[in-house]
Amino acid sequence: HIHPVILSGGSGTRLWPLSRTVYPKQLLSLIGKETLLQATLARANALSNSQAPILVCNSEHRFLIREQCEGIAISPAAIYLEPVGRNTAPAIALAAFHLADTNENAMMLVLPADHVIDDQASFAEAVETAALTAQDGYLVTFGVVPHTPETGYGYIKAGEAISFATPTALIPSRVQSFFEKPDQETAQAYLKEGGYTWNSGMFVFTAKHYLQELQRHRPDIFAAAQKAWQEKITDLGFIRPCKDTFTDCPSDSIDYAVMQVTDRAAVVPAQFGWSDVGSWDSLWQVSTKDENGNIAKGDTYIADTKNSYIRAESRLVSVIGLEGIVVVETADAVLVMHKSKAQQIKGAIQHFEANN
Ligand code: GDD
Ligand code: MG
Repeated sequence: HIHPVILSGGSGTRLWPLSRTVYPKQLLSLIGKETLLQATLARANALSNSQAPILVCNSEHRFLIREQCEGIAISPAAIYLEPVGRNTAPAIALAAFHLADTNENAMMLVLPADHVIDDQASFAEAVETAALTAQDGYLVTFGVVPHTPETGYGYIKAGEAISFATPTALIPSRVQSFFEKPDQETAQAYLKEGGYTWNSGMFVFTAKHYLQELQRHRPDIFAAAQKAWQEKITDLGFIRPCKDTFTDCPSDSIDYAVMQVTDRAAVVPAQFGWSDVGSWDSLWQVSTKDENGNIAKGDTYIADTKNSYIRAESRLVSVIGLEGIVVVETADAVLVMHKSKAQQIKGAIQHFEANN
């Protein structure tokens, strides 16, 4: 059995002005009709041995989250509400304590709510291999073949192969080193050296082994998350960890807190299409385009325009004679930018935060 744990705490600000703190990208329909959260839930649900998912999200989003689960007829085993985000190490710990309460060997499949994956069969095969590997106590990552020296990812160097009778063609390896978010120079050196993959941000391990490694490497996070979990309250079907204790929990990601330092990490090759839709440019890349390479959403008129992403949420938008641009119109904000500058959006967000 596999217990999907869906992390839905991020705000996805690089998809400004569509993705906002009150309505982050995982709760939006960016590709197709389903939201990214719904697509993630459906992907987990389609695995042959999957159990009801556990969701961990910010309290502010509870009704949207529940509505979106109902919208695709999925009943979560639990929805944990964080009073504040303390990053992924504590969020995953809440789900691990929840599962370990009845079965410490429960197999967890941690999935970010905001990723796009395009080959279900290949994804299922990778998860199956990962779960077999994790039975031996490994904390398993999925390695994506890198194509740019991206600095926002974890870099995994595979070590020796782990051999056991696997019914799939994928061979897991021990992780020799895991480096979270290297600087540009280091990322370039990794690509040049070869043998590195990007950490996909999805993980498979048993509740027991995650908690053991968290306790070993970050006893402070372990203790705070455990106390917050023990003092939880149930509220309208949601579970709230103790507010004060959780708020006092140190904030850190699983990548820094555990994966970089554990000697129990393993990696399974990810051969499915994967994107974390981290920018308008990557959303353009993974979306279905028309014969001119354009994507148009909402009420738009487009002429003599190529390779662009144009989205009208509340007004009429017309784009004529441009190439490689992004135009996103919402009721209170408009973005017009060259697609190649998608990472510079942070400047706009900082500007408006400082001035409003
Ligand atoms: N519940 C909850 N609470 N979820 C959270 C929190 C939190 O405090 N913080 C982040 N998340 C969710 C996000 O919504 C996202 O789905 C996932 O956890 C990962 O967080 P990100 O903030 O998006 O991490 P990242 O993109 O910087 O890095 C991670 O993902 C990369 C691949 O996309 C790392 O795992 C990297 O190593 C990896 O390469
Ligand atoms: Mg991310």
